[in-house]
Amino acid sequence: MTKISVNNKQYETYADPSTPMLWVLRDELGLTGTKFGCGIAQCGACTVHVDGSPRRSCITPLSSVVGKEVTTIEGLSPDSSHPLQKAWIAEDAPQCGYCQSGQIMAAAGLLKQKPKPTDADIDAAMSGIICRCGTYSRIREAIKQAAANGGK
Ligand code: FES
Ligand code: FES
Repeated sequence: MTKISVNNKQYETYADPSTPMLWVLRDELGLTGTKFGCGIAQCGACTVHVDGSPRRSCITPLSSVVGKEVTTIEGLSPDSSHPLQKAWIAEDAPQCGYCQSGQIMAAAGLLKQKPKPTDADIDAAMSGIICRCGTYSRIREAIKQAAANGGK
């Protein structure tokens, strides 16, 4: 049995310790905001935070998060009030929406490290999060807006 902490709640799971966190989150805990895209760390759809830093949950084994705090899109704020979530809505950033929780979690990691990111900072932090709908320009504007509103 493995004990983990997700969104500040404690859980016990009997999943194999090598199970990717993506499947523990989605299939066991019902936290389906985190998406499966590629399963091989290439798209970023599965991005969550581990101890505050963005991590691709599709290649993050359950055993590696023991004693750490995992945050998913559901835990970013209690009521979608995080400045990034507000900016995402204001900018109408999503199209199909599939990649967007990964985008927001990557952006949240960026703003934690760099509250006032430059365009180059945004590009560096976000370039690995693939959006097949091509919402990149709206995402960039939303990140800038959240940064202007003091968001992290
Ligand atoms: S599903 Fe994890 S990076 Fe694509
Ligand atoms: S909004 Fe459709 S994949 Fe990004």
